[in-house]
Amino acid sequence: MPHAIVTGANRGIGLQLCLALKDRGYRVTALCRQRGDLPAAVGIEIQENYDVTDGAAIEAFARSVEPGTVDLLINNAGILRSTSLDNLDLASARQQFEINALGPLRVTQSLLPALKDGGKIALVTSRMGSIADNDSGGSYGYRMSKAALNAAGMSLARDLHERGIAVAILHPGYVRTDMTGQSGLIDTDESVDGMLERIDELNLSNSGSFWHTNGELLPW
Ligand SMILES: NC(=O)c1ccc[n+]([C@@H]2O[C@H](COP(=O)([O-])OP(=O)(O)OC[C@H]3O[C@@H](n4cnc5c(N)ncnc54)[C@H](OP(=O)(O)O)[C@@H]3O)[C@@H](O)[C@H]2O)c1
Repeated sequence: MPHAIVTGANRGIGLQLCLALKDRGYRVTALCRQRGDLPAAVGIEIQENYDVTDGAAIEAFARSVEPGTVDLLINNAGILRSTSLDNLDLASARQQFEINALGPLRVTQSLLPALKDGGKIALVTSRMGSIADNDSGGSYGYRMSKAALNAAGMSLARDLHERGIAVAILHPGYVRTDMTGQSGLIDTDESVDGMLERIDELNLSNSGSFWHTNGELLPW
């Protein structure tokens, strides 16, 4: 049974990723700060107190996973906070950078021994991290943090190629979750079905691609 690990797994897109992967026959480990909406009954393994900025928690979990046993790591946890020119809250921008950019990098680095050679990594980014696609400005902290995540994704794709590990950089679409105040264009199931299709298609020749969940290649 393939093993998948998902961060930010207790609600929104992360929760749906866990449920969909379980349905597809994966052993699923759900990493979260508190279990929240994660149901006990469906056989998902739940690791609470996992904050992607907490180095001790990250290392302790990584030590608990048997080396070479993980097929898929999905870095999904993230936050969106308003940072405009009129309200340039640098503390908030730094927090978004810690959670959205450095968090996934740190989580991934800690789990490299756990990942199988030939495994896959997905980074849930945002098209708001695209510089070419930015036609509305603003959102400094979020846009900068996701652009940094995209840069990390490409370096991971290059660095892990030798181990046969492929990396997808995925925009989930505009999704009805708490993050968007439920005002997105699609539901989590449509977003996740698309992202899992992209992960199915992921291989070493397209590793490092920045994809919309609908399969469109996004500009950097
Ligand atoms: N929704 C969209 O339209 C959209 C669009 C583009 C990209 N995205 C990206 O998709 C991902 C999931 O977003 P969502 O819409 O599902 O948002 P959400 O409903 O707000 O869920 C965010 C998840 O991230 C977790 N999280 C936040 N900070 C964390 C931390 N420091 N450590 C561990 N977990 C943390 C949250 O846990 P708690 O419950 O503990 O806070 C929650 O599980 C994010 O990376 C987001 O940037 C979403």
